[in-house]
Amino acid sequence: MPDKPRLTDLPEWTALQAHANALRSASLRDLFARDPVRGERLTTEACGWYLDYSKNRLTDDTLRLLVALAQAQGLAPAIAAMFRGDAINATENRAVLHTALRNRATTPVLVDGKDVMPGINQVLDRMAAFTRQVRAGAWLGYTGKPIRAIVNIGIGGSDLGPVMAYEALRLYSARNLIVRFVSNVDGAHFHEQTQDLDPAETLFIVASKTFTTQETMLNAATARAWCLRALQDPAAVARHFVAVSTAEAEVVKFGIDPANMFGFWDWVGGRYSLCSAIGLPVMLAIGPERFLELLDGFHAMDRHFAETPFERNLPVLLGLIGLWYNNFFGAETHALLPYSQYLSRFPAYFQQGDMESNGKSTDKQGRRVAWQTGPVIWGEPGTNGQHAFYQLLHQGTKLIPADFIGFTQPHADPRVRSHHAAFMANLVAQTEALAFGKTADEVRAEKTPEALVPFKTFEGNRPTNTLLAESLTPFSLGALIALYEHKIFVQGVLWDVYSFDQWGVQLGKVLAGKVLAELDAKAEPALKHDSSTNALIRRCRAGLR
Ligand code: F6P
Repeated sequence: MPDKPRLTDLPEWTALQAHANALRSASLRDLFARDPVRGERLTTEACGWYLDYSKNRLTDDTLRLLVALAQAQGLAPAIAAMFRGDAINATENRAVLHTALRNRATTPVLVDGKDVMPGINQVLDRMAAFTRQVRAGAWLGYTGKPIRAIVNIGIGGSDLGPVMAYEALRLYSARNLIVRFVSNVDGAHFHEQTQDLDPAETLFIVASKTFTTQETMLNAATARAWCLRALQDPAAVARHFVAVSTAEAEVVKFGIDPANMFGFWDWVGGRYSLCSAIGLPVMLAIGPERFLELLDGFHAMDRHFAETPFERNLPVLLGLIGLWYNNFFGAETHALLPYSQYLSRFPAYFQQGDMESNGKSTDKQGRRVAWQTGPVIWGEPGTNGQHAFYQLLHQGTKLIPADFIGFTQPHADPRVRSHHAAFMANLVAQTEALAFGKTADEVRAEKTPEALVPFKTFEGNRPTNTLLAESLTPFSLGALIALYEHKIFVQGVLWDVYSFDQWGVQLGKVLAGKVLAELDAKAEPALKHDSSTNALIRRCRAGLR
C-alpha cells in the first residue's frame, strides 16, 4: 500500500499556505471595517456556550480552506471511529471511549463486541451509594467517627481533573467536608495537606489507573503508615482507604479490599478520565445529582461535536483556528485565560490534556513530522494575569493566540454581585485592546510627548476567541471540558499524530528508578552517567546523608 500523503503535501495545505501569505498583512481593524456585522456573524452557540471567533486573523475563505483540510485529513470518519469504539489508540491497541463514560442516553457502545454501558452505569451507581453514605455521615471510620476529610492521592490525570473540577464547583460543594489533593512526591505536599487532619476522620482515595505510579504509591504508603500509626490495627485500612483504578491485582497487593475499589477501563485515557471513577472526589464534594449534571454537560457537547457541521462545530472551529496560527503564523503557544477564579486550575488541566496528547513528533506512519504539532498551553485566570504577563501579550514580539472564557451572570453572594461588571469589563476590554490596539496617531491625539509615542503604541492584531456562558454550573463546566477535549482530538487528527498515548513520559520514569537506586545505595555507587548527572547524584547523596 502506498504511504499516506503527508499533511504538507496535500493540495489543501498548499492552498492554505498561499492564502496565509496573502492574508499575513491583513489587520483586524480592516477586517472589521470591511464587514460591519463581522462580530455577530463569526459566532456560534452550543450547549449554553457562545463562541465569538471574529477577533481572529481570518476570513470566510480561511474557514472554507481549513474545513477542506479537515475533510481531506478524514476528520469526519475519525470522529465516527472514536465514538464507535475503534482501537484508534493504535500504539497501545486500545479504544478511546471517554465519551461512553458520559453517554447519558445509554445507547450501547461496543468494545470487542461487548456493550460497556452496563459496567459504566454500575460503577456510577456504586460511587453514588458510597458518596451518599459518606455525605450523610454513615460511612464510619475505624473508631466509629464519621468521615470529615477526603484526601485524593493521585497525579497527572488522576489528580488534575478532580482538582480542577472541585475548585470549579466549590459553590456546589458540601462545606462540611474537607477535600484535599496530594499529588507531588515531594513529601512537603503530603505534610501540608494532612498535618491538620485527624486520621480517625480521614478517608484516602488512592487514584491511579495503573496503580504503579511511583509518586502515588509512595504517597499512599505514607498515608497508610500515618493512619495505622494512629489507629494501630491493619483492619482500619478498610474504613479509611478506597481505590480508583483499572488494576485490581495491584490494588489488592497494596492491601485495599476490592470491595472498596471503583474500577474503570483501559479504554479511558488518564487525562480523559474525569468522568470515570476518577471523578469520585468531585462527586463526594458536590453530590451524585450534581455530578450527573456535569456528565450531562459533557454528553451535550459530545453530541454537538459528533453531529454538527464543521462550520458551526465549536470543537472543530477552535481546533482549526488553533492550527491556523500554529502552522501558518508560527505561533508556539496558546493561552487559556478564564475570567473565573473558580477556573483557576483549568489551564493546568488542559496543559496535560493538550500537551500530553499532541506533544508528538512522529506521524501515524512512524515518520518524523515535517510540521508543527501541539502548542505550549498555559494561562492564569483574569484579571490576575493582566497584572502579570499581559504586557507581553499586548506589546511583545510573539504572537500568542488566546481564549478568553467568562460567565455573564454575577456571583450569587450579594456582597460581591457588584464586582461582576468590573470583572467582565476587563474581559471584553482585553479582547478589544488585543485586536485593535492603539495607533501612533491615536496616542499623539492624547497629547503624548513624541518621545513616548512608540512606547505607548499598541500594534493590535492579536487574535482571541471569546467563550461565554451564563454561569458556571456542573453542566456548563462539563460542556466546556468536552469542548477542549474534542478540540485536541481535531488537532491530533489533522496533525496525523496519535493523541491518546504518552510514550514521551516513559524515559524519565525509567531513569528516575535507576537514579533512585543510586541515591539509596549504602556504599558509594559506581556512577556511569554523563559527568553532569554523576555530579548531581553525588551532591544529592551528600544531602541525603
Ligand atoms: O506520567 C504520565 C501519566 O502516565 C499520565 O498519563 C497519567 O495521567 C499519570 O501518569 C498518572 O497515571 P496513573 O493514573 O496510572 O497513576
